[in-house]
Amino acid sequence: MRMLTEAVEVGVNEGVNANSLLNEWWHGPLHLRLVELDPGKEPLIRQNIRHWDNDFNGGNAWQLYLGDGFEIAKQFADGFFDYVYIDDDHNYEGVCKSIAAWWPKVKQGGFFAGHDWACDTVEWAVREFAHREQLKIQLAEEDWWIVRPY
Ligand SMILES: C[S@@+](CC[C@H](N)C(=O)[O-])C[C@H]1O[C@@H](n2cnc3c(N)ncnc32)[C@H](O)[C@@H]1O
Repeated sequence: MRMLTEAVEVGVNEGVNANSLLNEWWHGPLHLRLVELDPGKEPLIRQNIRHWDNDFNGGNAWQLYLGDGFEIAKQFADGFFDYVYIDDDHNYEGVCKSIAAWWPKVKQGGFFAGHDWACDTVEWAVREFAHREQLKIQLAEEDWWIVRPY
C-alpha cells in the first residue's frame, strides 16, 4: 500500500478524528496538517492530540493552522498532499469551495476524502464534482473518497 506522508484534515473541531488519523498511521512518516477556522477550538485540539507531540517524527507529527481553509490551501503547492480530508463547511456552497480549493493540492495517486456523505449537501456537491471530472467515488460508512488519477 502507498505510504501516506503529507496529509491534511480541513475542519478539525476538537481533534477527535485527527487523533484517530494519527493513531492509524503512527507507524509511517505521517505529517498531518490540521486546519480549523475557530481559534477557540485550539486548546481542545491540543489536549486531544497532546500525546502525539513528542513520541513521533521528532515531535513533528502534526501542525495546526488556524483560519479559513480556503485561504490556507493557497499556502501549499498543487499536488503536495497524499491525503486530503475535508470536513469543514457542510453547506453546498461551502463543500464546492472546499473541493475547488483542495482538489488541486492532491497528488496523482493520492486520496481526496471527506466526511458526512449522509449530509445531502455534501453528497450533491461531491457527486457533481465527480461527474464533471469523471472520477469514481468510493464510500465507507460516512466517509467518501476519490483517488486522483495519474
Ligand atoms: C464537523 S466539524 C469537524 C469534525 C472533525 N473533522 C472530526 O471528525 O472530529 C466541522 C469543523 O469545521 C470548521 N470549519 C467550518 N468552516 C471552515 C473553514 N472554512 N475552514 C476551516 N474550518 C472550518 C468548524 O469550525 C468545525 O470545527
